[in-house]
Amino acid sequence: MSKPRVFVTRRIRDIGLHILQEHCEVNLWPGDLPPDRRALLEGVRKVDGLLCLLTDQINAEVMDAAGPGLRVISNHAVGVDNIDLVEACKRAIPVGNTPDILTDATADMAFGLLMAAARRIVEGHNSILAGRWKTWEPNFLLGAEIYGSTLGIIGFGRIGQAVARRARGFNMRTLYYDPTLSSSAPVPETLAVDLDTLLAESDFVSIHTPLTSQTRGLFNRELFARMKSDAILINTARGPIVDSEALHDALTRGIIAAAALDVTDPEPIPMDSPLLRLDNLIITPHIASATRVTRDRMAQMAAENLLAGVQGKRLPYCVNPEVYER
Ligand code: GLV
Repeated sequence: MSKPRVFVTRRIRDIGLHILQEHCEVNLWPGDLPPDRRALLEGVRKVDGLLCLLTDQINAEVMDAAGPGLRVISNHAVGVDNIDLVEACKRAIPVGNTPDILTDATADMAFGLLMAAARRIVEGHNSILAGRWKTWEPNFLLGAEIYGSTLGIIGFGRIGQAVARRARGFNMRTLYYDPTLSSSAPVPETLAVDLDTLLAESDFVSIHTPLTSQTRGLFNRELFARMKSDAILINTARGPIVDSEALHDALTRGIIAAAALDVTDPEPIPMDSPLLRLDNLIITPHIASATRVTRDRMAQMAAENLLAGVQGKRLPYCVNPEVYER
């Protein structure tokens, strides 16, 4: 019997690739950059399964190009905003993702960015490189106190809750806003509040909500104006949740104090973006899940999802299980 055909849009960690190579005929996109649209449409032709990254936009056009044999779309990410789920559901194609395993790595990164922005760690490093460290100074690079401050978490799912657990070690008062939660979240000493309260009271605001039509552009001028002027924003979720121009305005006019982003809009951030010229903004290149252990496990989970799908089994990690209810 011939092996199922799958298209993998980038070299993932070997542990995942080996699982696929054993059981499938793998067409692996060889580039360091994502396949362009033409290559993607060509790569998916007549495949049984697609393993894609968050950099690939998977919509009806891609599903049409694959044809009716496409039995699974496996995203090598927990977020699935790059996939048209409505269209996948219409065609009864299960979509897989990689939840849980990246929760701690992402929460660590969010907390790391919080600390780096509060304590001006990148500015400190850059000041040495620029020859500005002349002596110990009482007024040099003063930052914000973290211990005992108030943290506001937007989106209290797995990652938001993991950030809250880290905040307990810093004796932070933790507020969260999550209109999708039906009961109070299982993290002791956290408080559910409305968005206005969270913005008005938080010294740090950390975003952990998925990108949806409700959260796209959520952080706009009007919302920044409701934050404290010494507040620090952290975004490790998705770039388009924050309006880049409004953020630039907020950071340059002192509407908030600083920000730290692991995600931008667009990605990568253009080198001529005015955001790159700000001292009170730290940006990292979407690496929150980038530990060896986590990326190995993500590759493995994405491969397991793909394999289950092409073998006609239920995906172990499926974001649209309703496709099995028909
Ligand atoms: C990373 O951003 C992911 O969604 O896994």
